[in-house]
Amino acid sequence: MGPGSITQVIGEQALIAVVEVDDAPSAAELARCLRDTGVSAVEITLRSPRALAALEAAAAVDGIVVGAGTVLSTKDVRRCQEVGAEFLVSPVFEESVALLSRSLDMFFAPGAATPTEVHRALEAGFSEVKVFPAEPLGGLALVRSLAAVFPSARFMPTGGIDQQSAAEYLAHPSVIAVGGSWIAPPSLIRSADWSSIEQRAREATTALSQGESR
Ligand code: 3PG
Repeated sequence: MGPGSITQVIGEQALIAVVEVDDAPSAAELARCLRDTGVSAVEITLRSPRALAALEAAAAVDGIVVGAGTVLSTKDVRRCQEVGAEFLVSPVFEESVALLSRSLDMFFAPGAATPTEVHRALEAGFSEVKVFPAEPLGGLALVRSLAAVFPSARFMPTGGIDQQSAAEYLAHPSVIAVGGSWIAPPSLIRSADWSSIEQRAREATTALSQGESR
């Protein structure tokens, strides 16, 4: 049985930089840049042709935990494991993906954004779920409503989150981590604007550490 909680994989910092990066050198540079500015986890989405090569390059960088997002098939699970992903996240609940991840000892957060989906995930033994797209679906109000019905569930909201809303989500006791691309948006990655990404990452980690002492 693999890690039951994202905290076991990424540590106590409840922040995941969600990134879309399609080439290995940029992915490695990005991973180093995020690591050096204090971000402890990055999720590379499988949404571009060379995302796996990017994932492999980022995973080879020491000092940052690299996972895969947009994991939709069992083939994705196997490939991500082969290239060194340390956790897997999906916007959907696909049972074959969930079960394979578990049998490979990989932490997996299925997507669940309705009561039925959260219930299905819990019944299958997955108590930590990605709520996506969090903001369009109701944001913190949605998370509060789901948490009231499912007190044992832990939520990882992503989708439309920014610096300010991240802190608001994290203040909710049922939110175990937040993720988003606001730290390293695709446009800044494409233009290799590492200094702007560093600045955003610093702001995010500083705000987060201040929030932890609340
Ligand atoms: C994800 O896969 O979690 C999202 O693309 C992140 O959403 P965002 O780009 O709106 O932050």
